[in-house]
Amino acid sequence: MTVYQATASAPVNIACIKYWGKRDTKLILPTNSSLSVTLDQDHLRSTTTSRADPSFEKDRLWLNGEEDEIKEGGRLATCIKEVKSLRRQLEEKDASLPKISGYPVHISSHNNFPTAAGLASSASGFAALVASLAALYQLPTDASRLSLIARQGSGSACRSLFGGFVAWQMGEKADGSDSYAVQVAPREHWPDVHALICVVNDEKKGTSSTSGMQRTVETSALLQHRIAHVVPERMRAISDAIKARDFDAFARITMQDSNQFHAVCLDTDPPIFYMNDVSRAIIALIVEYNRVALANSGKLKAAYTYDAGPNAVIYAPKENIKEIVELIVKYFPQAQAFKDPFALFSGKDVQGKVVDGFNEAVAKPFAVGAVKGLIHTRVGDGPRTLGAEEALLGQDGFPL
Ligand code: DP6
Repeated sequence: MTVYQATASAPVNIACIKYWGKRDTKLILPTNSSLSVTLDQDHLRSTTTSRADPSFEKDRLWLNGEEDEIKEGGRLATCIKEVKSLRRQLEEKDASLPKISGYPVHISSHNNFPTAAGLASSASGFAALVASLAALYQLPTDASRLSLIARQGSGSACRSLFGGFVAWQMGEKADGSDSYAVQVAPREHWPDVHALICVVNDEKKGTSSTSGMQRTVETSALLQHRIAHVVPERMRAISDAIKARDFDAFARITMQDSNQFHAVCLDTDPPIFYMNDVSRAIIALIVEYNRVALANSGKLKAAYTYDAGPNAVIYAPKENIKEIVELIVKYFPQAQAFKDPFALFSGKDVQGKVVDGFNEAVAKPFAVGAVKGLIHTRVGDGPRTLGAEEALLGQDGFPL
């Protein structure tokens, strides 16, 4: 008997121009376009196996081994339904295709990074879900077409259908058919863009992106200014910076847009705070590091950006990452050794230090654990279809 099963992995993406606000909450249509860098799946990824089988009772999904309810009309159900309907269209056109679109599916998904790290897993998770179902159903892989479906799982997920530098075009149509992701440049165009994720300790559960952005849409006057007068020009300028591999311009726009995103959160009623003292101290360090760089070379050497939480993501050309790790470690001593995937420190322990001319008074050193981990990664590729040896479902069709 043929087993209809496929496994795919998908990357995390971190936006430089932030998506914040929906004009349609059901279809997940944004109030502005956004742009992100896809991070390397060698370090951060979601992996998903999907199987269609007539003996299954119903569609079921497990996340890191725990079953997640597929609520009728919910985001998961919508994504599964949409991919099945693309398969059904193929089956209707080509009678030789096995009619598997009507079978229930079992889906098992796993993140290789701890959810507790506070890293957004919904983007890579929904992208891997859609990519694995598309592989299962052998859909012609048009990533923009698939991004329309992933978007309905979580807005930012549509950008994880591509590698490299990715724009989500907001579109105008009420049905959302023109609100999808496109690649601005593949990772091979600018592989020198690396990222250092500073995982900031965070005990309390903050406001979710979904509810936070809706409150911003309803109450923030600044958001309306951002949508109409700021983002369109920034989208153009950062796309040009990426095409020209102009890190200075890329960094300037990325930091401005992170700042404005957190400003519209503050402008929300009641206000939303995602950054904490540690986040702000990291901003002060990067600002000072860039001040020294500007004085020496006239160009910025790093860019910070923050999503709906306190973690910092620092983008920088690879050659600067060593100095940045030393800088962060100087102010945020680490309990664990730096996992050094690019062998910047050739097996030696990281010694905290600052570059010549750095004003050490811009921040106070924190206690061990304030930044509980550092992840060095870089721009990466889009979803990958994996072999049967990586499957997350056993022969019986249940999670391994
Ligand atoms: C701050 O994509 O998580 O990370 O569409 O409601 O699922 P939903 O929201 P989500 O929002 C991400 C917001 C952000 C900015 C970004 O990734 O562009």
